[in-house]
Amino acid sequence: MEVALYPGSFDPITNGHLDIIERASKIFDRLIVAILVNAQKQTLFTVEERMDMIREVTRPHVEVDHFEGLLVDYARRRGVHTVVRGLRAVTDFEYEFQMALTNRQLNPEFESVFLMTSKEYAYLSATIVREVAQFGGAVDPFVPPYVARRLREKFQNRRKT
Ligand code: PNS
Repeated sequence: MEVALYPGSFDPITNGHLDIIERASKIFDRLIVAILVNAQKQTLFTVEERMDMIREVTRPHVEVDHFEGLLVDYARRRGVHTVVRGLRAVTDFEYEFQMALTNRQLNPEFESVFLMTSKEYAYLSATIVREVAQFGGAVDPFVPPYVARRLREKFQNRRKT
């Protein structure tokens, strides 16, 4: 049984992430989407909200979890050696290269697999989605309907407070 981890911030999950999840699901028997919980970094959605959105928009064979600290330590605890990351453009390469080699240094058995996103999503990022939503723009082309609803609610509630 080939299992892989798909780690990230997923703040929130976008159609670009879903595209990578679909592609990875064709290669691996099981995929664990793992949300990084970083107390230093402020996020729009709590980890519970992010987990809920991912569960809602992915199929049941996708497990959703969260982790703190180093990815290699979490992977070891879960008994997984492979991580999947999406590449959108050349600009992603440097950061991903740095992370992959750091992870390999920390655990030589750890392998990173890179999947190219669909060209429709090459420009998409959760940061851009948050910004569009914040200023009332339509995010429907970028995220599943459930996530679009959660974004609208989040910013409506913020405007009220
Ligand atoms: O969605 P993101 O923010 O690009 O995901 C980045 C993530 C979570 C994969 C990366 O920051 C990570 O693995 N962080 C855990 C800390 C760690 O292991 N750092 C050492 C390798 S860079």
